[in-house]
Amino acid sequence: MQRQPVILAREVTRQLKLGAHIVHALRGVNLEIHRNEMIGIIGPSGSGKSTLLGIIGGLDSPSTGRVEIDGIDISRMNENQLTDIRNQKIGFVFQFFNLIPTLTAVENVALPIEFAQMRRHQPFSRARELLDMLGLGDRFNHKPNELSGGQQQRVAIARALANDPPILLADEPTGNLDSHSGETVMAALNTIRDENGTTVVLVTHDRSLASQMDRVLLLEDGKITTEDQAID
Ligand SMILES: Nc1ncnc2c1ncn2[C@@H]1O[C@H](COP(=O)(O)OP(=O)(O)O)[C@@H](O)[C@H]1O
Ligand SMILES: [Mg+2]
Repeated sequence: MQRQPVILAREVTRQLKLGAHIVHALRGVNLEIHRNEMIGIIGPSGSGKSTLLGIIGGLDSPSTGRVEIDGIDISRMNENQLTDIRNQKIGFVFQFFNLIPTLTAVENVALPIEFAQMRRHQPFSRARELLDMLGLGDRFNHKPNELSGGQQQRVAIARALANDPPILLADEPTGNLDSHSGETVMAALNTIRDENGTTVVLVTHDRSLASQMDRVLLLEDGKITTEDQAID
């Protein structure tokens, strides 16, 4: 029996207005991503990677086409419904870490647990557990400006995982890091996939990261043009 995909996109298009112009950011994207997969989306700048990630994460909606998360059609949901889906299903990581500078690592990670409608964990013990898992067991009480870029991004990953989303979406998470820090972030993403069973979708324009993925989707000019099993 075919497993139900965690993320499904069918003929997704997105048109955006730029002044008097219409930009065709996505031109009919199809994909299926399954539980516990680690998928790379690569492609040149402007090819639609961030637009696609925003749509599968419920930050934006397609102009036409269908998107399902865990079998739920989110394509035509309103803002409140999308907010609920994001809170239940999605963790986001971006290029810039967006940590709160006055809070320590543990406090940054505990914050979304304290704000969750249904609290699933004791905030501080869960925050310590996640930071420990991502190799930051000796950095609990450091503030962001006392951490390296790679360490800050791992705090951001821990924060994204605080409420146990089944899906983690990362948009160029290593784009602002040197290659060593980038490796520590990739190792962290692998750890959470292995230990938590999280489905990870990672957008990058760095082809060298592709070998660490289960599959790589190449996006060009708003369409997926190639789908590869990773070669290692
Ligand atoms: N808010 C927006 N308004 C208008 N055009 C946009 C907006 N966001 C992105 N675009 C355009 O959509 C296309 C895809 O952008 P994006 O998804 O950011 O690409 P990538 O992440 O691959 O660099 C680009 O041509 C970009 O200029
Ligand atoms: Mg982008």
